[in-house]
Amino acid sequence: MRAESVKKKYNSECYNEMRMKLPSLSVNEGMARAAVAAFCAQLDPTASELADIKCAVSEAVTNCIVHAYRDTVGIIYITVKLCEGGLVRIEIKDKGCGIENVELARTPLYTTDREGERSGMGFTVMESFCDKVRVFSGCKKGTTVTLFKYVKGKE
Ligand SMILES: Nc1ncnc2c1ncn2[C@@H]1O[C@H](COP(=O)(O)OP(=O)(O)O)[C@@H](O)[C@H]1O
Ligand SMILES: [Mg+2]
Repeated sequence: MRAESVKKKYNSECYNEMRMKLPSLSVNEGMARAAVAAFCAQLDPTASELADIKCAVSEAVTNCIVHAYRDTVGIIYITVKLCEGGLVRIEIKDKGCGIENVELARTPLYTTDREGERSGMGFTVMESFCDKVRVFSGCKKGTTVTLFKYVKGKE
């Protein structure tokens, strides 16, 4: 019963949707972040809500660029759904290398980066700026990260 009501909470009906596809070039990280923010602007979000969304999107898209398609260029699929009750669902999907152990990858400070450029805090940032973060991944198949964020707006 409880699990059902929790699930329902993030399942409200979608009334507007935006989809985009971008090659995993680092120049496109800013584009993805700005495009998602522009689409969400119709909810009249506060500056802080918009900053949270941009930051979380930026982390997820960067992961596609630097991890999923590490030695190659692949396509990043982004879907933004505006749902009843102020819920924003942002799906960021790649068909890259996948994550072997999702639970471990979500641990703060965990990183597979060997060059010492990454902090291992990407998932932690997404979790702290969103209401819920869902990750599905399959080795060599790819990863789908869904960010759920309730926007109350300026009122
Ligand atoms: N889209 C992805 N594809 C493959 N691996 C990923 C993806 N996103 C995250 N990872 C793995 O999860 C780890 C943790 O990610 P994150 O918390 O963003 O830290 P960081 O990017 O600083 O390493 C990464 O080091 C990487 O191994
Ligand atoms: Mg990261």
